[in-house]
Amino acid sequence: MKAPLISLKDISFSYGDRKVLDSINLEIYEGERIGLIGSNGAGKTTLLYLIMGLLKPQKGAIEILGKGRTKEKDFIEVRQKIGFLFQDSDNQLFCPTVKEDIAFGPLNLGKTKKEAMEIVRETCKILGIEGFEDRVTYKLSGGEKRLVALATVIAMKPLCFILDEPSAGVDENNVEKIVKYLKNNAKTYLIASHDREFLKDTVEKIITLEKGKIKY
Ligand SMILES: Nc1ncnc2c1ncn2[C@@H]1O[C@H](COP(=O)(O)OP(=O)(O)OP(=O)(O)O)[C@@H](O)[C@H]1O
Ligand SMILES: [Mg+2]
Repeated sequence: MKAPLISLKDISFSYGDRKVLDSINLEIYEGERIGLIGSNGAGKTTLLYLIMGLLKPQKGAIEILGKGRTKEKDFIEVRQKIGFLFQDSDNQLFCPTVKEDIAFGPLNLGKTKKEAMEIVRETCKILGIEGFEDRVTYKLSGGEKRLVALATVIAMKPLCFILDEPSAGVDENNVEKIVKYLKNNAKTYLIASHDREFLKDTVEKIITLEKGKIKY
Protein backbone atom coordinates (compact mmCIF):
# COMPACT_ATOMS: atom_id res chain seq x y z
CA MET A 1 0.00 0.00 0.00
CA LYS A 2 1.18 3.53 -0.80
CA ALA A 3 2.22 5.78 2.08
CA PRO A 4 -0.56 7.98 3.47
CA LEU A 5 -0.80 11.55 2.19
CA ILE A 6 -1.23 12.74 5.77
CA SER A 7 -0.18 10.90 8.88
CA LEU A 8 -0.52 12.07 12.47
CA LYS A 9 1.21 9.85 14.99
CA ASP A 10 0.51 10.07 18.68
CA ILE A 11 -0.26 13.80 18.53
CA SER A 12 -1.12 15.72 21.68
CA PHE A 13 -1.95 19.41 21.83
CA SER A 14 -2.83 21.77 24.66
CA TYR A 15 -3.57 25.49 24.82
CA GLY A 16 -1.78 26.26 28.08
CA ASP A 17 -3.06 23.65 30.50
CA ARG A 18 -6.22 22.97 28.48
CA LYS A 19 -5.57 19.66 26.71
CA VAL A 20 -7.50 19.51 23.44
CA LEU A 21 -5.98 16.53 21.63
CA ASP A 22 -4.71 13.48 23.47
CA SER A 23 -2.41 11.04 21.61
CA ILE A 24 -4.28 11.15 18.33
CA ASN A 25 -3.51 8.91 15.35
CA LEU A 26 -4.89 9.68 11.92
CA GLU A 27 -3.95 8.59 8.42
CA ILE A 28 -5.44 9.94 5.23
CA TYR A 29 -4.67 8.12 2.00
CA GLU A 30 -5.01 9.47 -1.50
CA GLY A 31 -8.61 8.99 -2.65
CA GLU A 32 -10.08 9.05 0.86
CA ARG A 33 -12.97 11.41 1.61
CA ILE A 34 -13.43 11.82 5.32
CA GLY A 35 -15.79 13.82 7.51
CA LEU A 36 -14.73 15.10 10.94
CA ILE A 37 -17.45 15.75 13.48
CA GLY A 38 -17.52 16.64 17.17
CA SER A 39 -19.23 19.16 19.41
CA ASN A 40 -18.25 22.83 19.67
CA GLY A 41 -14.83 23.05 21.22
CA ALA A 42 -14.02 19.36 20.60
CA GLY A 43 -10.81 20.35 18.80
CA LYS A 44 -11.66 19.94 15.09
CA THR A 45 -10.20 23.27 14.01
CA THR A 46 -7.18 22.66 16.22
CA LEU A 47 -6.57 19.31 14.50
CA LEU A 48 -6.79 20.93 11.05
CA TYR A 49 -4.40 23.72 12.13
CA LEU A 50 -1.86 21.09 13.20
CA ILE A 51 -2.05 19.43 9.75
CA MET A 52 -1.43 22.81 8.10
CA GLY A 53 1.40 23.72 10.48
CA LEU A 54 -0.50 26.69 11.92
CA LEU A 55 -0.06 25.15 15.37
CA LYS A 56 2.71 22.83 16.52
CA PRO A 57 1.98 19.76 18.64
CA GLN A 58 3.62 19.33 22.04
CA LYS A 59 3.94 15.60 21.34
CA GLY A 60 3.90 13.29 18.33
CA ALA A 61 4.92 13.33 14.68
CA ILE A 62 3.34 14.73 11.53
CA GLU A 63 4.18 13.27 8.13
CA ILE A 64 2.72 14.82 5.00
CA LEU A 65 3.45 13.74 1.41
CA GLY A 66 5.89 11.20 2.78
CA LYS A 67 8.04 13.65 4.76
CA GLY A 68 8.30 14.51 8.43
CA ARG A 69 7.05 18.06 9.07
CA THR A 70 8.18 19.92 12.14
CA LYS A 71 9.58 23.34 11.30
CA GLU A 72 7.74 26.26 9.70
CA LYS A 73 9.83 25.75 6.54
CA ASP A 74 8.51 22.16 6.20
CA PHE A 75 4.96 23.45 5.85
CA ILE A 76 5.57 25.74 2.84
CA GLU A 77 5.17 22.78 0.45
CA VAL A 78 2.22 21.49 2.49
CA ARG A 79 0.34 24.78 2.08
CA GLN A 80 1.00 24.80 -1.67
CA LYS A 81 -0.31 21.28 -2.21
CA ILE A 82 -2.99 20.95 0.42
CA GLY A 83 -5.81 23.46 0.20
CA PHE A 84 -7.07 24.73 3.53
CA LEU A 85 -10.40 26.49 4.06
CA PHE A 86 -10.45 28.44 7.34
CA GLN A 87 -13.58 28.23 9.50
CA ASP A 88 -13.67 32.04 9.52
CA SER A 89 -13.67 33.43 5.96
CA ASP A 90 -12.08 36.67 7.19
CA ASN A 91 -8.90 34.69 7.93
CA GLN A 92 -8.78 33.62 4.27
CA LEU A 93 -9.60 36.84 2.46
CA PHE A 94 -7.18 39.72 2.64
CA CYS A 95 -7.20 41.42 -0.77
CA PRO A 96 -9.35 44.42 -1.74
CA THR A 97 -11.25 42.59 -4.48
CA VAL A 98 -12.53 39.10 -5.11
CA LYS A 99 -10.41 38.56 -8.21
CA GLU A 100 -7.21 39.53 -6.39
CA ASP A 101 -8.01 37.11 -3.58
CA ILE A 102 -8.70 34.20 -5.97
CA ALA A 103 -5.69 35.00 -8.18
CA PHE A 104 -3.31 35.28 -5.22
CA GLY A 105 -2.62 31.53 -4.89
CA PRO A 106 -2.18 30.79 -8.60
CA LEU A 107 0.15 33.83 -9.00
CA ASN A 108 2.15 32.60 -6.04
CA LEU A 109 2.46 29.21 -7.71
CA GLY A 110 4.04 30.89 -10.74
CA LYS A 111 1.06 31.35 -13.06
CA THR A 112 1.09 34.39 -15.36
CA LYS A 113 -1.43 37.17 -14.77
CA LYS A 114 -3.40 36.00 -17.81
CA GLU A 115 -3.45 32.37 -16.62
CA ALA A 116 -4.45 33.46 -13.12
CA MET A 117 -7.36 35.52 -14.47
CA GLU A 118 -8.53 32.53 -16.50
CA ILE A 119 -8.46 30.44 -13.30
CA VAL A 120 -10.44 33.19 -11.52
CA ARG A 121 -13.11 33.01 -14.23
CA GLU A 122 -13.25 29.18 -14.19
CA THR A 123 -13.44 29.02 -10.40
CA CYS A 124 -16.16 31.66 -10.15
CA LYS A 125 -18.16 29.69 -12.72
CA ILE A 126 -17.86 26.46 -10.72
CA LEU A 127 -19.28 28.14 -7.63
CA GLY A 128 -21.85 30.27 -9.45
CA ILE A 129 -20.23 33.55 -8.45
CA GLU A 130 -19.57 34.86 -11.95
CA GLY A 131 -19.68 38.62 -11.90
CA PHE A 132 -18.16 38.78 -8.41
CA GLU A 133 -14.65 39.39 -9.72
CA ASP A 134 -14.55 43.15 -9.13
CA ARG A 135 -16.57 43.19 -5.94
CA VAL A 136 -14.99 44.50 -2.75
CA THR A 137 -14.31 41.48 -0.56
CA TYR A 138 -15.05 43.02 2.83
CA LYS A 139 -18.47 44.19 1.65
CA LEU A 140 -19.68 40.68 0.77
CA SER A 141 -22.30 38.88 2.87
CA GLY A 142 -21.23 36.00 5.11
CA GLY A 143 -22.33 33.32 2.65
CA GLU A 144 -20.81 35.16 -0.30
CA LYS A 145 -17.51 35.38 1.58
CA ARG A 146 -17.72 31.63 2.24
CA LEU A 147 -17.99 30.93 -1.50
CA VAL A 148 -15.14 33.30 -2.36
CA ALA A 149 -12.98 31.76 0.39
CA LEU A 150 -13.65 28.32 -1.06
CA ALA A 151 -12.87 29.68 -4.54
CA THR A 152 -9.41 30.77 -3.34
CA VAL A 153 -8.76 27.18 -2.25
CA ILE A 154 -10.13 25.56 -5.43
CA ALA A 155 -8.06 27.96 -7.56
CA MET A 156 -4.87 26.39 -6.14
CA LYS A 157 -5.93 23.01 -7.60
CA PRO A 158 -4.70 21.26 -4.46
CA LEU A 159 -3.89 17.55 -4.20
CA CYS A 160 -6.02 17.34 -1.09
CA PHE A 161 -8.56 19.62 0.58
CA ILE A 162 -8.83 20.33 4.29
CA LEU A 163 -12.10 22.18 4.77
CA ASP A 164 -13.35 23.67 8.03
CA GLU A 165 -17.14 24.07 7.90
CA PRO A 166 -17.41 24.72 4.14
CA SER A 167 -21.23 24.79 4.10
CA ALA A 168 -21.72 27.09 7.11
CA GLY A 169 -23.99 29.99 6.20
CA VAL A 170 -24.31 28.83 2.58
CA ASP A 171 -27.80 28.49 1.04
CA GLU A 172 -29.14 25.19 -0.32
CA ASN A 173 -28.51 26.04 -3.97
CA ASN A 174 -24.93 27.00 -3.36
CA VAL A 175 -24.29 24.01 -1.10
CA GLU A 176 -25.36 21.87 -4.05
CA LYS A 177 -22.67 23.51 -6.19
CA ILE A 178 -20.04 22.78 -3.54
CA VAL A 179 -21.19 19.15 -3.28
CA LYS A 180 -21.09 18.74 -7.05
CA TYR A 181 -17.60 20.19 -7.27
CA LEU A 182 -16.24 18.01 -4.48
CA LYS A 183 -17.82 14.83 -5.80
CA ASN A 184 -16.67 15.34 -9.38
CA ASN A 185 -13.35 17.06 -9.00
CA ALA A 186 -11.83 16.56 -5.57
CA LYS A 187 -10.20 13.22 -4.92
CA THR A 188 -9.01 13.48 -1.35
CA TYR A 189 -10.42 15.57 1.46
CA LEU A 190 -11.06 15.97 5.16
CA ILE A 191 -14.08 18.08 6.06
CA ALA A 192 -14.91 19.31 9.55
CA SER A 193 -18.63 20.00 9.72
CA HIS A 194 -21.76 20.06 11.84
CA ASP A 195 -23.83 19.67 8.67
CA ARG A 196 -24.77 15.97 8.57
CA GLU A 197 -26.69 16.31 5.29
CA PHE A 198 -23.67 17.87 3.61
CA LEU A 199 -21.39 15.13 4.92
CA LYS A 200 -23.84 12.44 3.80
CA ASP A 201 -23.48 13.81 0.27
CA THR A 202 -19.71 14.26 0.25
CA VAL A 203 -17.84 11.75 2.42
CA GLU A 204 -17.49 8.00 2.67
CA LYS A 205 -16.25 7.83 6.23
CA ILE A 206 -16.89 9.89 9.34
CA ILE A 207 -14.60 10.20 12.34
CA THR A 208 -15.57 11.85 15.62
CA LEU A 209 -13.48 13.92 17.98
CA GLU A 210 -14.54 13.45 21.57
CA LYS A 211 -12.69 14.15 24.79
CA GLY A 212 -9.41 14.62 22.93
CA LYS A 213 -9.60 11.28 21.10
CA ILE A 214 -10.67 10.22 17.62
CA LYS A 215 -13.45 7.65 17.46
CA TYR A 216 -13.51 5.61 14.28
N1 LIG B 1 -6.01 30.22 20.82
C1 LIG B 1 -6.62 29.56 21.78
N2 LIG B 1 -6.27 29.71 23.07
C2 LIG B 1 -6.86 29.02 24.06
N3 LIG B 1 -7.84 28.10 23.85
C3 LIG B 1 -8.23 27.90 22.59
C4 LIG B 1 -7.65 28.63 21.49
N4 LIG B 1 -8.23 28.20 20.35
C5 LIG B 1 -9.13 27.28 20.73
N5 LIG B 1 -9.14 27.11 22.06
C6 LIG B 1 -9.98 26.16 22.81
O1 LIG B 1 -9.68 24.84 22.35
C7 LIG B 1 -10.86 24.07 22.24
C8 LIG B 1 -10.97 23.49 20.85
O2 LIG B 1 -11.22 24.52 19.94
P1 LIG B 1 -11.47 24.25 18.40
O3 LIG B 1 -11.62 25.58 17.76
O4 LIG B 1 -10.42 23.36 17.89
O5 LIG B 1 -12.86 23.46 18.45
P2 LIG B 1 -13.85 23.00 17.28
O6 LIG B 1 -14.10 21.54 17.45
O7 LIG B 1 -13.30 23.45 15.98
O8 LIG B 1 -15.19 23.79 17.63
P3 LIG B 1 -16.35 24.40 16.69
O9 LIG B 1 -17.26 23.28 16.33
O10 LIG B 1 -17.03 25.39 17.57
O11 LIG B 1 -15.69 25.04 15.52
C9 LIG B 1 -12.01 24.99 22.65
O12 LIG B 1 -12.36 24.72 23.98
C10 LIG B 1 -11.44 26.38 22.50
O13 LIG B 1 -12.00 27.27 23.42
MG1 LIG C 1 -13.93 24.72 14.56
